[in-house]
Amino acid sequence: SDAQAAPPVMPLAELHLHIEGTLEPELIFALAERNGIELPYADLDELRARYEFTDLQSFLDLYYANMAVLRTEADFADMTRAYLRRAAAAGVRHAEIMLDPQAHLSRGVSLETCVNGVASVLASSRDEFGISTLLIAAFLRDLSEESALEVLEALLAMNAPIAGIGLDSAEVGNPPAKFERLFARAGEAGLRKIAHAGEEGPPSYIIEALDVLGVERVDHGIRCMEDPELVERLVADRVPLTVCPLSNVRLRAVDKLADHPLPAMLAAGLNVCVNSDDPAYFGGYVDDNFAQLESVLGLSEFDRVRLAANSISSSFASDERKAELL
Ligand code: ADE
Ligand code: ZN
Repeated sequence: SDAQAAPPVMPLAELHLHIEGTLEPELIFALAERNGIELPYADLDELRARYEFTDLQSFLDLYYANMAVLRTEADFADMTRAYLRRAAAAGVRHAEIMLDPQAHLSRGVSLETCVNGVASVLASSRDEFGISTLLIAAFLRDLSEESALEVLEALLAMNAPIAGIGLDSAEVGNPPAKFERLFARAGEAGLRKIAHAGEEGPPSYIIEALDVLGVERVDHGIRCMEDPELVERLVADRVPLTVCPLSNVRLRAVDKLADHPLPAMLAAGLNVCVNSDDPAYFGGYVDDNFAQLESVLGLSEFDRVRLAANSISSSFASDERKAELL
């Protein structure tokens, strides 16, 4: 969105963010021009007209198509710098950033190009933007586990500066258990583990992500509300759920923001925090998510502070960094 909301008073961590989902229409056109790539849209308005999604897949189709403009390390670096600049204005002080390496490898862009392009900017993010950062390699669950294992081994072989792995893309029909060996290998390598679950998929996918993959944090997780026993477990174990309200509305996981389960999740005592997911596609950054939540759902000061504190405590930042931010 154009209008920038006043940043929340509390320091925030953004824990659910796909760096490719920060590619704004203006940058798509600028990179296309720089790389001599012909876009299938005549102008910005024609591109923006495509941002009407009916479900997760209709978004993913555009998200993957727009990645065609990312060719060089500089492209990945420019995209990352633009996100950090905007996130700093939103009050983000720590960010855990997912990258989809397979979405670039399949287009002939090397692992070195995408990883080094993003990582080169993250290396100085704290000095340049006041944001500590970690990089998470996310694997596309609609591809095979063999493909994911190959890419993970290549990341380990190149000593890629990744803190953990995630699981994203088309959820329904691609249950977490499909990636049991991938997550076991990541655990052996000392990596942190997260997965998207319960965005469009059923509550059983959340249980599988916890029990079969051993994830420490669940991305989205909103459909846990359909299973009271699961909610009880998530509360008891303080499992972090990285909720993305504007994303859920745009991808039709919920009808409208007024119907979003976040207030019920807070009331249930779940460890939830607010994130932007793919802010260039879903109508705003984390401050926009807070602003719209407040105007539509009227979050209390207590809830706002709790959401911010949850984001810091649920992060993989060092204890020292957490203490600075809490
Ligand atoms: N990749 C980027 N954003 C995603 C989302 N919200 N769900 C699944 N995969 C994604
Ligand atoms: Zn996501």
